[in-house]
Amino acid sequence: MNRIAIIDDSEINRVLFGALVGKLGLCHAELFRDPVDGLAWCLAHAPDLIVVDYMMPDMDGIEFISRLRASPGMEDVPVLMITASDDRGVRHEALRRGASDFLTKPVDHVEFSTRVRNMLALSNGRRKLADRAAWLAEEVAKATEAVHAREQELLIRMSRAAEFRDPETGAHILRMAHYSRLIAEELGLPDDDCRQIFQASPMHDIGKIGIPDHILLKPGRLTLEEFEVMKRHAQIGHELLKGSASMILQAAATIAVSHHERFDGVGYPCGVVGEAIPLYGRVVAVADVFDALTSTRPYKPAWSLDEAAAYLRDQSAAHFDPACVDAFFSRWDAVQQIHAQYRDEVGKGG
Ligand SMILES: [Fe+2]
Ligand SMILES: [Fe+2]
Repeated sequence: MNRIAIIDDSEINRVLFGALVGKLGLCHAELFRDPVDGLAWCLAHAPDLIVVDYMMPDMDGIEFISRLRASPGMEDVPVLMITASDDRGVRHEALRRGASDFLTKPVDHVEFSTRVRNMLALSNGRRKLADRAAWLAEEVAKATEAVHAREQELLIRMSRAAEFRDPETGAHILRMAHYSRLIAEELGLPDDDCRQIFQASPMHDIGKIGIPDHILLKPGRLTLEEFEVMKRHAQIGHELLKGSASMILQAAATIAVSHHERFDGVGYPCGVVGEAIPLYGRVVAVADVFDALTSTRPYKPAWSLDEAAAYLRDQSAAHFDPACVDAFFSRWDAVQQIHAQYRDEVGKGG
């Protein structure tokens, strides 16, 4: 049902226009003698079309249109103005103020009905388009959110798959992801980077699924030869994750290949030095080593937080980027909280 406001001080015209609108079908007319009342009703109800007379006491048609257009949401409501046939100047002024179309008095019935019908059709078409655009935007937002959620789920499942073979626990992955995010935040990285580091760092050791069991699960220290095989997990992880369009997977590939590089250049797999090591890798290196030290492993007991902290300080600028070490200690309270919150599961290797 289309709602049409008719504002005219002449009763004869109101009755006539109301009757013509009624004949159009699916249209309901609201009639106003007083333009002030008419304007108030239009602002409250946003009609599909407004028919307004020009010559009225208190407020003329141009003033009415000016006030209407100045109100939020009323920019596009079609307005048909009724003027005397010799009012060319008035019609031009009304156009400038936002009238959509005109009819001249005396109003021809057929012309009135046709004009109203056409203006309603345009108005309804525009409304449908706007609704559809809003609906589409909403659907795209929903779909994008679903894609992100699925991507995140897949990544978590991939990390879990690696965990099944890795003696390191899920708690290690959680803690080091949180530590990594703390460091990234403290370094002042943009929110997107902080989130990516948090989401991608759990996959740092995913390349371990390519390391044979007798090495990966060996209790006690590895021989030099075995360690050389173990080192391959960085490159394998990179091979697995690289080349994706996903920002998180790109970050994860970078972290996988660079989390065992050392600031002094004697790390692996490439022996890159200092800031040539990707920042994500430098961040995760601090988080990963700190958590490995403070966790129980088959070949060593857990270090105290203070012992591990002393090691990080000692290795700042040697193993680690000093900026990342400083950032880590700037959030020491949060580090202790994370360490306490995500405990290793009983019965599982540390
Ligand atoms: Fe690793
Ligand atoms: Fe790790």
